[in-house]
Formats: sequence, structure tokens, C-alpha cells
Amino acid sequence: MSKRERFLRAIRQEPVDRPPVWLMRQAGRYLPEYQALKQHHSFSDLCRTPDLAAEVSLQPYRIFDVDGIIVFNDILIPLEYMGFSVLFTETGPEVQPPLRSEEILADIHKANFDKTPPVFETIRKIRAQVDSNVPILGFIGAPFTMAAYAVEGSMSRNFVQIKDLRFQNPGLLKQILEIITETVLGYIRIQIDAGADVVQVFDTWAGILTPSDYREFALPYQKVIAEAVRKEGRPVILYVNGCAPYLEAIAESQIDVLSVDWRTDLRDAYHGLHSRCAVQGNLDPCALFASPDTVADLTKAMIQGFGQHTGHIANLGHGVLPNSRVESAHAFVETVRNYRYG
Ligand code: CP3
Repeated sequence: MSKRERFLRAIRQEPVDRPPVWLMRQAGRYLPEYQALKQHHSFSDLCRTPDLAAEVSLQPYRIFDVDGIIVFNDILIPLEYMGFSVLFTETGPEVQPPLRSEEILADIHKANFDKTPPVFETIRKIRAQVDSNVPILGFIGAPFTMAAYAVEGSMSRNFVQIKDLRFQNPGLLKQILEIITETVLGYIRIQIDAGADVVQVFDTWAGILTPSDYREFALPYQKVIAEAVRKEGRPVILYVNGCAPYLEAIAESQIDVLSVDWRTDLRDAYHGLHSRCAVQGNLDPCALFASPDTVADLTKAMIQGFGQHTGHIANLGHGVLPNSRVESAHAFVETVRNYRYG
């Protein structure tokens, strides 16, 4: 069974020999190979230079033999095409100007991508180096999570600014969500045209919303995106950090796979979704600070704990953290690759 076939069959909940496996943020700072490139190039340069971005995307594939290659990019890059400046600093991304008023919204526009963004060429270059049996994952940020950065302007602990907007001017927040939706739809279409086989949508910060606000400010936009991507014949994986309160809503969202965070039991998530979606996840990312033997045990327990013989993509419950042990990431991937459903 090819990697691509296993990946797509697991998503459709058809029989497979074992779960496919990859890691969110599998390319990045915990890899010496990435750090070596970072000595000479900034993160933005890596994203903007297709040869380098393709190389970084391929590093985890070569090192771990993962079952999917996620394109090296960032969810915030499309904001640059809307009139924002996006800087990636030591302390996290900075988006200017913070979008909190009608006046600033007047200077912001939906991206038209007249000039094809580098991500197109990056995906082409990845594909040229691996055969079509390995799935390439494209990705975007979901509108609420993108808006959280656009409104806050930087990483935030409590998301006071976007919550303030939600309560004081919900109409403006919806206008923002709409132009971001159009922008990310354009950005994902470019990735699909370039050859992305699967699309992951990151709604990382939707987990700060009340369940009824989730239905009002996150779900409708996720749905528009899921429907558009499915129309292109590509499956959609959705990630929400802290997904448990929203399973009933997510079950209505037209997505194919829910990427479950580490706080939620995979089986509970699957049943909460009425088995309508497959699940991805959900080893605690901090487990990769532990020894390879510990990780191997936890990984087997994760697969067996889910208990189904399909409908599961093995992954972490959030992205790989900077100080993770490479040999433990190795143990995670290898344990899944050697696993066989009984
Ligand atoms: O998964 C992959 O290997 C592909 C690359 C990828 C990056 N960012 C590269 C990156 C992906 C899928 C993302 C998604 C992303 N970016 C999300 C959603 C997923 C999540 O983790 O919640 C979010 C919220 C962002 C925004 C962002 N970009 C933040 C908050 C930061 C800084 C802090 C951090 O967590 O790394 C970035 C910078 C960034 N994006 C780095 C990488 C490898 C670090 C840059 C560096 O090398 O210094």
C-alpha cells in the first residue's frame, strides 16, 4: 500500500494495515538540519525561496520517512497580500497595523494573488523530488485564527483585543472574517493547483470561544473553506486547540478529519463527531522530551487506545516543540510505521 493510498484510505475510514503518520510542525527548530539553514537565512527568506522551502519541507521526510510532507510556510503569510506587514521575531510573529477599527479596515483588502506566491513553486519543487505516492499537505489558517493575529498584532495570552471586538463591534469582526476567508480560499487554490493532495486548516485559537460563539465566528467560515476544498476533490483536516467543547458543531462542518489536541481522548472525540470524521493525533507534544522507549510505549498505547482499525492518522496533539528530542520523534514515527492492526 503506497503512502498516499494509506493516507487517503484512513481518511475515508476504509481498511488499512496501520495508521499513516506525520507530525505537525515536523520541519523546524528541533532539527539540526533546519538550524543549519537558519544560520544563513531568516524564516521569511526560507518561506519565500522555493528551493529552500522545498528543502526544509523534505528534511523530515528524509530523516523520519513520515507518510506526508507538509509544505514549509506559515499561516500568516497570506496577511502580507492583504496590506499587512508580517514580521517573524524572536518572540513570535508581529502583524502591523493591528486591525481594530473601520479606518484600518479601509486600508486592508482581500488578496488577489496576481503574482503567484512562492508556495506554488515550493510545492512543484517538492513534487519533483518525491514520487506521487507520497502525499503533500497544503495548509492555511482558518479565518478566526488569522483574525486573532490580525487584531491582536502579536502573540497573546488572553486574546483581549479580539474578544473586545467581538463584544463591541461584532459586525466589524465578521467583515474581517469574510475578507480573510476570501484570501485563504485563494491561497489554498494555489496550493491545490500546484499539487497539494490534502489540506490542513489550522483554527488553533478557535478554542478560546464559547460554544455559541464558535458556531457564530468560527464554524461558518470553516464550512465555506471545507466545501470549497472538497469541491476540488481534496480532503480537509481541521485542527482546533481545545476541540472538546465543539465536537457537535465540528461534526456539521464538512471536514474529513479532526486533528485532536492532547487533552481530549481520541475515542471520545470520534464518538462526539458521531464517527462522521476520521481523527488525527494526539500524543502530547511534550512527550517528545522523553526517551525513545517511553515514546514508543506511549505511541502504541495511543493507537490501541483509539481501538478502531482505520480512521486514524497518527500525529501529535499540537506542533513539535523546539526542544524535542530528534531520536524520540524518530521513535514515534518508527513505532507507527512498524505497527500492524491486529
Ligand atoms: O508543520 C510544518 O512543518 C510546516 C510549517 C508550519 C509553520 N507554521 C512554520 C513555522 C506550519 C504548519 C505553521 C502553522 C502556524 N503558524 C500556526 C498553526 C499551528 C499551530 O502551531 O498552532 C500558527 C498559530 C502559526 C503562527 C506562528 N508562526 C507562530 C505563533 C510562530 C512563532 C512561534 C512558534 O510557535 O514557532 C511562527 C513562526 C514559525 N512558523 C516557525 C516555523 C518553523 C519558527 C520560525 C523560526 O524558525 O524561528
